Amino acid sequence: MIDVERARRETPGCAHVAHLNNAGAALPPAAVTDAVVGHLRLEERIGGYEAAAAAAAEVENAYPAIARLLGCAPHEVAVVENATRGWDMAFYAFDFHPGDRILTVRTEYASNVIALLQVARRTGAVIEVIETDEHGLPSLDHLAGELERGAALVAVTHVPTHSGLVNPAAEIGALTRAAGVPYLLDACQSVGQLPVDVGEIGCDMLAATGRKFLRGPRGTGFLYVSERLVERLEPPFLDLHAATWTAPDAYEIRPDARRFETWETNYAGKIGLGVAVDYALGWGLDAIEARVTALAEGLRERLRAVPGVTVRDEGKRRCGIVTFTVDGVPATEVRRRLGAAGINTSVSPMEYARFDLAARRLPDLVRASVHYYNTEDELDRLCAALR
Ligand SMILES: Cc1ncc(COP(=O)(O)O)c(C=O)c1O
Repeated sequence: MIDVERARRETPGCAHVAHLNNAGAALPPAAVTDAVVGHLRLEERIGGYEAAAAAAAEVENAYPAIARLLGCAPHEVAVVENATRGWDMAFYAFDFHPGDRILTVRTEYASNVIALLQVARRTGAVIEVIETDEHGLPSLDHLAGELERGAALVAVTHVPTHSGLVNPAAEIGALTRAAGVPYLLDACQSVGQLPVDVGEIGCDMLAATGRKFLRGPRGTGFLYVSERLVERLEPPFLDLHAATWTAPDAYEIRPDARRFETWETNYAGKIGLGVAVDYALGWGLDAIEARVTALAEGLRERLRAVPGVTVRDEGKRRCGIVTFTVDGVPATEVRRRLGAAGINTSVSPMEYARFDLAARRLPDLVRASVHYYNTEDELDRLCAALR
């Protein structure tokens, strides 16, 4: 059980706003902000390199913390600037050839699809979108058939940016493992709001961000790459942290996931990310998911009772993202008016999830995304404002 009172006490932002934009960036707990600001103050006092050395243990903590979160080893973790950079570093490391098939899902995120399109254009690889069932989920039968025909990569978004559904990541993983096809999971919206264990899911690579449901600092993210695969993936960019210049005409790439990092990094952010992960683990991801899912279901129920509002979430297992439309009022206008009433929401436009929103013939959606520190009262306020 989550102690909501305590969660709110430890989240200064709760006193100022009804924050239902956790899928954009959640409110950080004070412990995260204090750690980030504390390190910046240390840099101010003694110098950036010296502060990094003095706080080496706190900086390093990000790796075992993320490893505990994901159920992997610390050497399988790279800390990067955001989910997209992590995802790209893994994706662009593949050497695709003409006709190579990359399988993805209808709910895939725009940045990932743009990268797929660019690489397809450059290499002649082919993008195949797995058929979608009546719940908006990828058909596992269709995926199994496609895997039998051979594929170079399966790229799936666990929780989409624009929908409350949770894709069947582990069922997909069982199929990719059996077929021996590498599996890249975008867990940007799932990490921090539900348990994500790379062993249970069976993915080979996973990218996520700090600022969303993990409640970490902006400009932080991470990439998991399984030790099964890492030495076969050559990062698209290298520097003297990712590799060592061993002779005038030679270099050696480091053997662990940090080959996907760069030497310069945001040390305060990295410390804050580790604190955020430990903080989430302190609550427990099962407890967080239970609270988030219950709040989100309660919100969907309330929204269905508001005249003119239509809930747009699909899926069987659902999460803390709630999407809806309001008859006759564009999503951006709904968000603006809610914002004026002290309620933060966001908009999921067509171009963030074109495969899915176009297939469903939907306009831009309003997205209200809850976290465990939100209250029933805040959900009532949202619905009152909508009425
Ligand atoms: C599903 C999904 N993947 C990836 C991203 C990109 O994350 P980042 O902005 O940290 O690169 C987002 C951001 O909204 C997202 O919703």
